[in-house]
Amino acid sequence: MSIIKKLFVKTYGCQMNMYDSDRMIDLLKPLGYQLSDTPENADMIILNTCHIREKAEHKLYSDIGRLEPYKEAKAAKGEYMILAVAGCVAQAEGEEISRRKPVVDMVFGPQSYHKLPEMIAQAHRTLSKNGKPSVLDVDFPTESKFDSLPAPNPDHKGSAFLSVQEGCDKFCTFCVVPYTRGSEFSRPVADILKEAKHLVSIGVKEITLLGQNVTAYHGVGLDDKEWSMGRLLFAMAEVPGLERIRYTTSHPQDMHKELYTAHKDIPHLMPYFHLPVQSGSDKILKAMNRKHTAAEYRDIIYKLREIRPDIALSSDFIVGFPDETDQDFEDTLQLVRDIKYVQAYSFKYSMRPGTPAALIHSQVNEDIKDNRLQILQELLREQQLEFNISMVGKQTTVLLEKEGRHPGQLIGKSPFLQSVYLEAPKRLLGQIVTVEIEGGTQNSLAGKMVTQEHIHYA
Ligand code: 5AD
Ligand code: SF4
Repeated sequence: MSIIKKLFVKTYGCQMNMYDSDRMIDLLKPLGYQLSDTPENADMIILNTCHIREKAEHKLYSDIGRLEPYKEAKAAKGEYMILAVAGCVAQAEGEEISRRKPVVDMVFGPQSYHKLPEMIAQAHRTLSKNGKPSVLDVDFPTESKFDSLPAPNPDHKGSAFLSVQEGCDKFCTFCVVPYTRGSEFSRPVADILKEAKHLVSIGVKEITLLGQNVTAYHGVGLDDKEWSMGRLLFAMAEVPGLERIRYTTSHPQDMHKELYTAHKDIPHLMPYFHLPVQSGSDKILKAMNRKHTAAEYRDIIYKLREIRPDIALSSDFIVGFPDETDQDFEDTLQLVRDIKYVQAYSFKYSMRPGTPAALIHSQVNEDIKDNRLQILQELLREQQLEFNISMVGKQTTVLLEKEGRHPGQLIGKSPFLQSVYLEAPKRLLGQIVTVEIEGGTQNSLAGKMVTQEHIHYA
């Protein structure tokens, strides 16, 4: 009889981390680890961290402090709680984490997850030898972790992530990703299709292909030649039973012809596109090493809208990058006014040690950053509300993903990634239904189900 052990996982940051956490959970299941939603009495805690901005890192250290009493309570019972720090902070800081916080027993980066069972065994060996487990693994191994991870079995409710690409070779001057996730790696098309078919076989209707730089995908195709993201999307479109396809995150520099064709010719490639621009000022874009101008970005959007007029746009913005003047910031606002986003993420520039931008002397004052962020977010909020209200009276499809706060209510996602609330029986969770939108706020839509039918593409 295997002994059940309690596992608590906290995920910080991006969807890539969410995917990685799920894979770690899947990997630990056969070892008897059962997921728990509280850290209390856990046998193992994994903090899957994010290093992208300073705030995320601070949060990790304060969370470790909060977890200490749980570890002590467990120790008082003569039991051991293994505390592991995974993810990008682990990759970047390595040993420094356990030096600063000795309660941390294991530190390992995103390229080592497939070695988790081996690392846990090592932790137990050092525990019985020294009374304290100690594991550090922040290598970039040559073998692919994807080859050794089990097929995902997410608790999916109709929608799942599929990681197709990792790492980044772009080196934007503000960003730690090329250092924490390493250089670009693309999974072979055959492996991706196998995973996609498996996901569909367990009831998944929507797959979001993930990559730090997904549009830079260049994996080995079914013909042993290198395939682009566009070609991969066409292959995904052929997966029987898959009803919605999404992908994220894209880079303006990688917008190749096949991608546009994919948006034109694949009806179930969702009309939603997340294309980070970061700034509307050419001077700042150059200093960021983005390798495109604001005009080139605008052209991409116009071209996409020409072939797919209903496409909804989302982006990432950074305000207060070093040397950003009022005029540079105004250029960003003008770009937002011109393009009109349905959703966006905006951040104050956060100085990351080891990145080129951290060395620029003329950092922008914190109050100015706060003020600019507020102005930008207000504009983005207005645009989001305007888009949501424009849906009122229209019919759309909704993939029902979870229960709402009120009895009988379910929440799902529209093709444009809006949250939609409606009354529907629980048995429809994971299904796509047709809904008439009756109301819209900045963050969500309310609607009523018209029919359980919708157009099937695949
Ligand atoms: N400061 C602020 N925002 C950042 N991002 C990445 N690095 C930083 C940084 N140093 C933002 C970018 C990116 C998103 C994932 O996080 O907008 O697109
Ligand atoms: Fe970071 Fe730029 Fe790479 Fe995106 S493209 S992960 S912002 S370096």
